[in-house]
Parts: sequence; structure tokens; C-alpha cells
Amino acid sequence: MHIDGENPVIICRIRYAGSTMNIDGTLILRAAHHSEAAALATMSRLHVEHGLESRWLPGRIRRHIADANSIVLVASLDGIIEGCAIMKFQDESAHLLLLVVQPKARNRGIGRALLRSLEAFCQNAGICSIRLELRASNATARHFYEALGYHAAGRVPRYYDRRESAIIMARILD
Ligand SMILES: CC(C)(COP(=O)(O)OP(=O)(O)OC[C@H]1O[C@@H](n2cnc3c(N)ncnc32)[C@H](O)[C@@H]1OP(=O)(O)O)[C@@H](O)C(=O)NCCC(=O)NCCS
Repeated sequence: MHIDGENPVIICRIRYAGSTMNIDGTLILRAAHHSEAAALATMSRLHVEHGLESRWLPGRIRRHIADANSIVLVASLDGIIEGCAIMKFQDESAHLLLLVVQPKARNRGIGRALLRSLEAFCQNAGICSIRLELRASNATARHFYEALGYHAAGRVPRYYDRRESAIIMARILD
């Protein structure tokens, strides 16, 4: 697996037509390019931050693309970005900052592919745990993370815009 923040390098090609991943085509997971930051910010605003002040603005995403300790990963199918994830790495742990799949592309295994790919990267880098926060109202995401082995590790009242609580979830990697 290779990650280069400046040049979008394909890090993983997955071809599925089975029941686990309902995609008839090649899903490409690769590092995002600076020029894609605005599209990723729109995905976050519409599908993660709806009803909240937008914090994932293009400039912030570009800073993560340029940051050697972060990865901004996109999942593209037939050349169209269907999902993205942003993760920040520390010495022994990683923080999943954003994960979103376009509504029409959901329930086909793309979210799982993004997260499993990041987990594999963490394991190769010697990182042993991943944590994340999600909106307390986001039952779908909570089911998703639980299905992938994450457990609730706490709750932060009024984390989002000082009005919506966050659930902290975490997973210890094998
Ligand atoms: C959460 C999200 C990323 C999941 O992406 P996805 O590509 O639809 O998820 P997958 O198809 O890979 O699902 C993997 C597993 O998660 C679980 N899951 C996914 N969606 C689910 C739902 N709506 N209800 C219950 N379980 C669900 C299932 O166990 C699924 O495995 P299965 O298909 O074998 O049963 C997607 O719903 C999304 O982008 N939501 C809006 C943004 C968001 O909430 N992001 C996370 C918080 S930052």
C-alpha cells in the first residue's frame, strides 16, 4: 500500500460481484487530490454535517491532503467518487475524522472497504487502535461501526455545535 498526498496514487483496486460487496465493477481506493477537496466538503456538508455548522470546508480537507500524518482516501467507481474517509495518525493510535458514502452507493460495501483499507494501513504502520466520534442521532453509522467491530467508548454531551452529543467509538486492532 502506498500513500502520496501530492499525487493521487491508486492504493487498492477491488473487484467484487459477490454478495458481500454488491458492486459490478472495479472500486478504486486512492489518495484524494487537492482539486477534489470541494467535492468532498460538499459530501460532508450534505450527508454528515446536515443541520450543523459546516466544519469540513475545502481548505481544511486540503490541509489534511497535504499533511504527512493524515490520509484522505476516496473510493471511486467508474471514475465517480462514491465515498471518502479522512484519518489522522498518531504514534500508536489513529483518529477517523470523516467517513461518508454517497446515498445512492450505500449498502454495497463501500464504507466497509474504506474502513478496512484504513485499518490495514494502521496495522502495517504499527498503530493498534482507532477511535472516532459520531452524532448521537446517527443510528445507521452506529450500526455500521458495530458491525465492523467498533464499540461505544463514551459520550460527549453537546459536542456538535454545543447542542448534539457525540458517541465515541473505538476498536483495538488485532
Ligand atoms: C455509515 C456509512 C458510511 C456506511 O457506508 P455503506 O457503504 O453504506 O456501508 P456498507 O455497505 O459497507 O455496510 C457494512 C455493514 O454496515 C452495516 N450497515 C450499513 N448500513 C446499515 C444500516 N443502514 N443499518 C444497519 N446496519 C448497516 C451492515 O452490517 C453492513 O454489512 P452487510 O451489508 O454485510 O449487512 C453510510 O451510511 C454513510 O455515509 N452515512 C452518512 C455519513 C455517516 O453517517 N458517516 C459516519 C459518521 S462520520
